[in-house]
Amino acid sequence: MQSPLSYEQKRAVVVGCFSGMGEATARIVGELGAEIVAVDIKKPKVAHADFFEVDCRDPGAIDSAVVEIAQAGPIDALFYCAGLPGGSFSNIDVMSVNFLGQRHFVEACVPHMKRGDGVASISSAAGMAYMMALERVKELLALTDHAEALAWVKEADAAGNLEGYSFSKMCTIVYVLNRGPLLTRETGIRFNCISPGPTDTPMMPHFEEQVGKAFMDNFPKPIGRNSSADEQAWPLAFLNSSAASYISGENIFTDGGCAGGIMTGSIDLSKMMPS
Ligand SMILES: NC(=O)c1ccc[n+]([C@@H]2O[C@H](COP(=O)([O-])OP(=O)(O)OC[C@H]3O[C@@H](n4cnc5c(N)ncnc54)[C@H](O)[C@@H]3O)[C@@H](O)[C@H]2O)c1
Repeated sequence: MQSPLSYEQKRAVVVGCFSGMGEATARIVGELGAEIVAVDIKKPKVAHADFFEVDCRDPGAIDSAVVEIAQAGPIDALFYCAGLPGGSFSNIDVMSVNFLGQRHFVEACVPHMKRGDGVASISSAAGMAYMMALERVKELLALTDHAEALAWVKEADAAGNLEGYSFSKMCTIVYVLNRGPLLTRETGIRFNCISPGPTDTPMMPHFEEQVGKAFMDNFPKPIGRNSSADEQAWPLAFLNSSAASYISGENIFTDGGCAGGIMTGSIDLSKMMPS
């Protein structure tokens, strides 16, 4: 029997696979049998059949790449792993890559995908308070036109009313929870995301610079250490495989239990965070 985790005979598009979780996802899904179509702003070193240089801030570049990708073969699985950490990157760029570019990429690929295919993306434990910002997130999500949504983001930023990184992650979770069931009902395509805790990738030094190493070291980690990129790539590989054929519209906190503990009170943030 073929393992339901197998990607044999499948073509997987991995966006953001130059480094970190995207690189790990392309490597693992490739080892599971997929033909990898790599997409990134930088040419990745991970093995791939095809590469498209795309800046995910640019919806036109996404549209052109997706047309070419779909002309060359099927899109059986889409992994959106591109992201920026905030800090030295502007709120506009962070929102553009982490959420607006993600949504544009997903919606551009959907017409080329079929029943049983999967889309998986990456949010973050930083988005765990999405229920507290639901109305504002839904206001942006209602703007399905990229240019209108970008104008909303620019206005919020100019008003000093935006923390780009955590807001982009809240938007990702709500987009997946809200769009996933509709997409699955209409097309049979499943759509899920993961929300990692601190993970050792090239993004980690950016977080340490922004909030301090002590903050990242003291961030609640029930498993007692940071995650590796592979430990995030495996859940992504699972979500887009037929092993997850009844999972859609789901956000999985891949944070070793941190979010659940905070939400239900078994982890007291005030005791664990540096003052
Ligand atoms: N590392 C962590 O602790 C952590 C925790 C939670 C969530 N995340 C999220 O995981 C995702 C992957 O990040 P990572 O930790 O693997 O970091 P990373 O920096 O290694 O990977 C980010 C990838 O996105 C690509 N990218 C950046 N800007 C792009 C653009 N404009 N167009 C196309 N590609 C672009 C990069 O080249 C790189 O391949 C991000 O969404 C990040 O926010 C990271």
